[in-house]
Amino acid sequence: MANIKLHDLNFTPFISEKELSEIVTSLVDKVSLDLSPREVPIFIGVLNGSFLFAADFIRKYKHNCEVSFVKLSSYKGISSSEVVNELIGINEDLTDRTIVILEDIIDTGSTLHKIYDSFKNKNIKQLKIATLFFKPDVYRKELPIDYIGKSIEDKFIVGYGLDYDGLGRNLPAVYQLTTEVT
Ligand code: IMP
Ligand code: MG
Repeated sequence: MANIKLHDLNFTPFISEKELSEIVTSLVDKVSLDLSPREVPIFIGVLNGSFLFAADFIRKYKHNCEVSFVKLSSYKGISSSEVVNELIGINEDLTDRTIVILEDIIDTGSTLHKIYDSFKNKNIKQLKIATLFFKPDVYRKELPIDYIGKSIEDKFIVGYGLDYDGLGRNLPAVYQLTTEVT
């Protein structure tokens, strides 16, 4: 894998396709173990960043499930803002259902906070959070995260759904920022 350039920044290979696949498989295994075989969960991907992770996760899940997506955004460029927009896209009746949120990455936790808020009054049975990546150095909330694919240092990454100003989502592997940005 070679270095890549997106807009003005350089990125270096960080997590290969093979490792990504292994991480997703282990998340699916952990989630599957916790769900009763008779239960039909609703997997909810958080757009745009989780579209590839959600697609791969759902394909590896071996039992009946429903799939939906929500959208909100908290990111401009490479620094996370505390302002998170409204969550849109949930029209289903979620009463007594098990919801598993599929997030690409949890950074400050602002997005996660919004998700918890939005599902609070929907009378669901349980809400589980599965995130592909987690940045423990940045996370500032007390909210539980049930499944973490891989904890990473606080450096900006792109690929496998994650973007830098719109670019990089289509990369099958994950790359890490090389240059220092202030
Ligand atoms: P949070 O609300 O600060 O936890 O940020 C979560 C969202 O910010 C994620 O769902 C991503 O869309 C985006 N994000 C956070 N860190 C990165 C990164 O390193 N690269 C690309 N996007 C990121
Ligand atoms: Mg996201």
